[in-house]
Amino acid sequence: MSIQDDRIKDLVGRRASAALGGGEKRIEAQHAKGKQTARERLAKLLDPGSFEEFDMFVQHRCTDFGMDANHIDGDGVVTGAGTIDGRLVFVFAQDFTVNGGSLGKSVSEKICKVMDAALKLGAPFIGLNDSGGARIQEGVDALAGYGEIFERNILASGVIPQLSLILGPCAGGAVYSPALTDFTFMVKDTGYMFLTGPSVVKSVTGEDVSQEELGGASVHASKSGVAHFAADSEDEAIAQVRRLLSFIPQNNMETAPIRPTGDPVGRTDDSLNEVIPDNPNKAYDMYGVIRSIVDDGDFFEVHPAFAKNIIVGFAHMGGRSVGIVANQPGVLAGVLDINASRKAARFVRFCDAFNIPLVTLVDVPGFLCGTQQEYGAIISNGAKLLFAYGEATVPKVTVTLRKSYGGAHIVMSCKQLRGDINYAWPSANIAVMGADGAVGILYGKELKAEADPAVREALAQEKKHEYDELFCNPYQAAKRGYIEDVIEPRNTRFRIIRALEMLAGKRQELPAKKHDNMPL
Ligand code: HXC
Repeated sequence: MSIQDDRIKDLVGRRASAALGGGEKRIEAQHAKGKQTARERLAKLLDPGSFEEFDMFVQHRCTDFGMDANHIDGDGVVTGAGTIDGRLVFVFAQDFTVNGGSLGKSVSEKICKVMDAALKLGAPFIGLNDSGGARIQEGVDALAGYGEIFERNILASGVIPQLSLILGPCAGGAVYSPALTDFTFMVKDTGYMFLTGPSVVKSVTGEDVSQEELGGASVHASKSGVAHFAADSEDEAIAQVRRLLSFIPQNNMETAPIRPTGDPVGRTDDSLNEVIPDNPNKAYDMYGVIRSIVDDGDFFEVHPAFAKNIIVGFAHMGGRSVGIVANQPGVLAGVLDINASRKAARFVRFCDAFNIPLVTLVDVPGFLCGTQQEYGAIISNGAKLLFAYGEATVPKVTVTLRKSYGGAHIVMSCKQLRGDINYAWPSANIAVMGADGAVGILYGKELKAEADPAVREALAQEKKHEYDELFCNPYQAAKRGYIEDVIEPRNTRFRIIRALEMLAGKRQELPAKKHDNMPL
């Protein structure tokens, strides 16, 4: 055997040993917890054979707490580049079998290297998190490592898409890197995010709470909104990531890929003419409308379990990727509250940052009022959505289906917030408020003065009818040019697609500034 043969054999051996991470026993323990290893996850996330690993032989440089005798090639993270559906991405996958995937200086250097490459090459960055957090033995070096990652998350925000999968514990300040990224995917029963775990919570507040109740996928996907997606398994979360990428561009200088479709642009749907119930207080299902107008009925919802009174997600229309924002009359009558405003604002800003046109479907009775909302700052939170729509420069097409009242009318991508094309169905009511509220305010004293209840009721009905006739229609807005056209519901798909085609070359600039000061 030549010296070269020996060297190659040594290399192969080193690779095999690094690939085992913390070793067979810890891999078994990982599997026993229902979790896959870092390399198994990457093999499923990336196109087969596309993974180009970086820094497989990096070791930590810590000598305290016996760490000088605890070296594993590659340390606690696997990093590199690969492709998803043929498109370049950069990835890291924390390896829980190596010191619990904890993050020290060398681990952070590996992660920062792929982040820098992703930013330089304009490719999405995906983090697979499964870690005990800052490596205790490395002290402030570990904290410095997190700081370096956070800074890169911030600089890359709005330049390249950043996605986070939470596939194990994610504790302490470690949760802030996922929170700085665009979308977070959590796996139920194994993925956790919290600032401090249940035992610290118990000692500080006396509260008894399980990991799942404190920071499990269901909690963050439905209550806090920290997670955009919750999956039943790692494979499902990985499939969600791959699907999401199919709707978005590689970076902020590109547009999302066109997806060819056999669904005719000119397809009409007569059933849409029947969607709006005669009773204005009756709900209908906005999902049905969305599926009817998008290509092949294919809608990828973001935040499906959080603030269900507003729906946001991606679809294609005429092959073009679009971001859909729609009030959901089936939940809280589609009212805008704090969570709905936050959810939609973040989505609108993502779409605007990454050149994805916005299609807004409006049926909103107004903002939710009351002390709970006021104390929670509905004013500042509602203003987030207002700000997001008002600053967005991507093509914006709005269709008002039914109610569009007051401040909520303005917020939901109205003409004056630089809505490009605004349509309304004949059932639209674009007004300051509905007839009940308006008559109460305008004729309240007169109605109160009427002693006979039957006469009072007849007078109220007459005034409501008058108000309805005058204001509860789309034509007051159409007369002033606040909407471009009143359209037949059955034609909604092709009218939107035609508008999007017309707007494809839209260029709009914001005034020069360091950055805005949106109401956070
Ligand atoms: C070093 C760690 C570690 C850590 C776990 N390990 N966390 N090593 N630093 N932070 C090691 C364990 O010693 C163990 O080593 C192996 O990883 C697996 O851990 P287990 O505890 O056996 O696993 P499990 O029972 O699944 O529990 C996982 C866990 C728990 C819930 C994550 O390990 C844990 O609570 N770790 C500490 C979490 C934490 O408080 N981190 C610091 C947060 S503060 P062996 O050799 O036995 O296999 C923070 C600051 C960030 O992150 C600041 C950013 C601004």
